[in-house]
Amino acid sequence: MCGIVGYVGSKKASEILIDGLKRLEYRGYDSCGLATITDGSLKVVKSINRIESLENDANHLEGCIGIGHTRWATHGEVSIENAHPHVSQDGKFAVVHNGIIENYTELKKMLLEKGFTFYSETDSEVIPNLISLYYEGNLLKAVKRATDDLIGSYALGIMCVEQPDVLVATKNNSPLVVGKGEGENFIASDFGAILKYTNDFAILEDREFAVISKDEVSFYTKGLESAFYSFIKLDTNVDDMEKSGFAHYMLKEIHEEPNTVQKIIKEYLHSSKGSMKFQIEKHDIKKVEHLYIVACGTAMHAGLYAKCLFEKLARIPVTVEVASEFRYQNPILRKEDMVIFISQSGETADTLASLALVKDKNIPFISIVNVKESTMDRLSDNVLYTKAGTEVAVASTKAYIAQTTLLALLAIYFATIKKSYDEDELKTLVEEIEMLPSKLERILDNEEKAIPYAQMLLQDQSIYYVGRGMDYYLALEAALKLKEISYIHAEAMPFGELKHGTIALIEKGTDVVVFANSPALWEKTLSNIKEVEARGARVFIVTTMRDLQDVENYDILVLPEVHELLAPILAIVPLQLLSYHIACMKNLDVDKPRNLAKSVTVE
Ligand code: G6P
Repeated sequence: MCGIVGYVGSKKASEILIDGLKRLEYRGYDSCGLATITDGSLKVVKSINRIESLENDANHLEGCIGIGHTRWATHGEVSIENAHPHVSQDGKFAVVHNGIIENYTELKKMLLEKGFTFYSETDSEVIPNLISLYYEGNLLKAVKRATDDLIGSYALGIMCVEQPDVLVATKNNSPLVVGKGEGENFIASDFGAILKYTNDFAILEDREFAVISKDEVSFYTKGLESAFYSFIKLDTNVDDMEKSGFAHYMLKEIHEEPNTVQKIIKEYLHSSKGSMKFQIEKHDIKKVEHLYIVACGTAMHAGLYAKCLFEKLARIPVTVEVASEFRYQNPILRKEDMVIFISQSGETADTLASLALVKDKNIPFISIVNVKESTMDRLSDNVLYTKAGTEVAVASTKAYIAQTTLLALLAIYFATIKKSYDEDELKTLVEEIEMLPSKLERILDNEEKAIPYAQMLLQDQSIYYVGRGMDYYLALEAALKLKEISYIHAEAMPFGELKHGTIALIEKGTDVVVFANSPALWEKTLSNIKEVEARGARVFIVTTMRDLQDVENYDILVLPEVHELLAPILAIVPLQLLSYHIACMKNLDVDKPRNLAKSVTVE
């Protein structure tokens, strides 16, 4: 989604902005631009291609102050006019904006009546013009008056030619951080954009302001009173932002999965005692009668996996909701309920809005988050970190593995407290979790096995991913991975449901990938396989089970044996690799697939 970076110091701003924008690329964008102030005038360069295409023009821009932006189109097509920074009609103010201004039509009408003209179709262009309208020699005051008129979400970086030494920043429901350096200061929508230059951050609060010059950073409240902000340091590793010899971030992140699981085990398990380190009050767990799990995308699929575990082990009914639906359905929440939010980024707008709703109703909730100091982290009292490190590729891989492993441990913890499942069985499960890293290693050691499958599926227009029980939820995530990066349509179905309509689409040569990890459901799964085979389907089986009978006719990928409740954590990996290799064979931009954003900060 959109990204912001801003710089003021004594170095060439354009170079730092280009570097920062490159670090924001992974969030997904379709145009980009930057502006600096040189010799009392604004210089703007924009591109509707990748950041590299901006570099040449940007190099010609002098100036030690500037703002840069990556745009993910919402209002108006991908075009140079619609790309940011946007400049006021009088050429004095430049603005980069993340978010959506909901009342921009009225504001634009008002400005048009006052004689302003517009060159873009964006909601954002009203902002520099509003600032221009209210400017009486003090940029901060003009920004405050302008933002008082705005309804919606925004993170803003603002420059004015009449005050060429300061940047003003403000935000509402969209993240913005201020980075403090030595003789230089920064703003960014994401720590990662400026982590190379500073590890001293202040996180701006909604509707408050920061005024940043080379040597000073000042903060102001909504009413423009002076505000105190403390600066924090992150324990994020800058190396996470490098590819470390891998062709793509996605491949690197898949290869980090064994270590990711190891970190979760270390963080949440007392190995010697077999007990867990979750700091959730036991009486809170005992009284939970219903769990909601709310998330989006891959995180929601991790939630579906967890549903099976919580229901089976802890005997708690679970409803998994897509956050964009949950927030508008006036959910029936009672004191005996608990909500689990899951998010890699901690910035997904719909998940955050759902969290605000639950918080408002005083319902207990836990947040499972990867990014420390993200908005979700800061809004939650009970946070469990997935510790996967920075995930750069848009398609989530290691974060899913971290979420599912953590949720498996959490479900076992709930079951232990509630005494709802056989203790020895729970112990066995914990032991099996401890063995996951080495099994994941074995799968990755055989990565090349994915390649012939990728070749076989490469030309497909559509593929079916099917499974019964928790294998269906696994199929959903596998299908999402394929769609996201290879642009091949993939439909996940509960296998038993296929015959109620969708089987009409199965014909000679249709590819059907079957997940089969449940011994109890194998006979039923096999019958379903026969049904699609009889209609000409080419069947691929992915399984963690040994010695399956009657499968000679099918391509079969046998993974290391594992407890069936943990199978999805292993079985997704070859499918992540399959999607990856198909996308590579199709020469697609694996890490930055079209139309997608890493973190969706608008509704
Ligand atoms: C976007 C990403 C997905 C991700 C989803 C939820 O759509 O492209 O990969 O699963 O957001 O993101 P979150 O950061 O909340 O887990």
